[in-house]
Amino acid sequence: YSTSKHRPRPDRLHLIGCGSSYYAAMWAKVWFETIAKIPTKVTYGSEAINITLKDPKETRIYITQSGETKDIIRASHNEKSDSIFIVTNQPFSHLGSSFFNTIDIGANIERGVAATKTFTLTCYALWELAWHWSSESKENELKVLDYQDALAEGIKHVLDREQTVATIAKMIARYDNALFLGRHWDYPIALEGALKLKEVSYIHAEGMPAAEMKHGPIALVDEKTPSIFTVTGSFDIDTIISNMREVKSRNGKVFAVVSPVNYDRVKEVADWTFRTCDIHGVAMEPLAANVVLQLLAYHVAVEKGLNPDRPRNLAKSVTV
Ligand code: AGP
Repeated sequence: YSTSKHRPRPDRLHLIGCGSSYYAAMWAKVWFETIAKIPTKVTYGSEAINITLKDPKETRIYITQSGETKDIIRASHNEKSDSIFIVTNQPFSHLGSSFFNTIDIGANIERGVAATKTFTLTCYALWELAWHWSSESKENELKVLDYQDALAEGIKHVLDREQTVATIAKMIARYDNALFLGRHWDYPIALEGALKLKEVSYIHAEGMPAAEMKHGPIALVDEKTPSIFTVTGSFDIDTIISNMREVKSRNGKVFAVVSPVNYDRVKEVADWTFRTCDIHGVAMEPLAANVVLQLLAYHVAVEKGLNPDRPRNLAKSVTV
């Protein structure tokens, strides 16, 4: 994908995906709306078949790492416009080789059934597109390379500390339930973290916006249900801290993946923390934090004697 390629700026965007690709779309919506200022909606592929009215003013982006997901093929079935995009890791797949504009995320082969690096690179490709449509990109075309370096550095920092994640995983493996919480751009990361844990470790997990917990799910919190927070960026830290205190006061354990700017505040409340590194560009922080959650799911599975690459009941491409 090259930012120099001519891609006219759409008036409105509609992102369609399933599972992790849907969460990547939710994450990207934040950036399409904040940096590119394009109103964006997100729909599950399986629900998009019900969209009878295809808005001619909206550009639709179908997101599918495999390019073979039946729900996405069905959803895109009547598309005629050449302004449709496919974001995929398989440019020669059914959808990747269609006449639509294909963006190859370039993640290479992903052997495990669960989406990991394809999630990261789908998010990154969508972020690049948001950047491309932002006014900032015209002023600074090269800055996108800084973000690539920053993301690589953020992920390396996490991988170098895998042992810390493995230690936290030993604790999480003892539970049957877990809540994943985050705000704003960390909310889709919480959803993705919960999906990853349930897919490979069979622990029931729910992701939600941190402050939504008090509107119902807090009834689940007790000593048997830990809460795993993702806290990147520097907005609204007081509310997050108060959400953590709500968990603690109900005997729930608090685990937090936290960026340096929030570390001191969060450390005072959380039982265990994983500190990510200082990353240039706030958009890359949640993606690095997500790798902590991916590793967590991996180590919980290993701890439970499960094969994280081959989870039960799941296939790499959902063609039904
Ligand atoms: C992710 O770990 C899942 N196995 C699943 O949710 C997946 O993201 C979903 O089926 C969509 O697949 P796709 O990106 O290939 O369309």
